[in-house]
Amino acid sequence: GAPNFQPGEAQRVASRSALANEWAEVEFTYAGRPCVLLRVPEPVPGGLSVGDEHYAAYSRVCTHLGCSVNLVRDQEVLAFAYNYRPPQEDRHPQLGCPCHFSVFDPLQAGEAVFGKANGPLPRVRLEARGGDLYATGIEPAPELGG
Ligand code: FES
Repeated sequence: GAPNFQPGEAQRVASRSALANEWAEVEFTYAGRPCVLLRVPEPVPGGLSVGDEHYAAYSRVCTHLGCSVNLVRDQEVLAFAYNYRPPQEDRHPQLGCPCHFSVFDPLQAGEAVFGKANGPLPRVRLEARGGDLYATGIEPAPELGG
């Protein structure tokens, strides 16, 4: 859905050149929450596009019970540890939770696509300022549980 960003402090996260390749990631903390900035291969709802560069950033706080999600690049690890069978067209890295194996799709606005979490990961609003990427807001933290 449409992002529901709460405006926040402008915080430099990384230079665009630090994310030269698709699926490069930079972890950061924003508004007290662990977050991750990703270079993604296509525009994402609530993300940022600068020419043909596409970015998205998410809270890493799992919306099930609050463990920190990580970018899982390996589809075999996803299938084995997470018991998750990505559809053929979805075979890209996912944000996975190590606690109870929820999976969130970074190309679908952080939607929960597998596991106990029933809400998406909150998105972080991004802005490009010259060669740098800034976080300038974040969606509200959900009530945890499920
Ligand atoms: Fe992430 Fe339970 S805390 S799946």
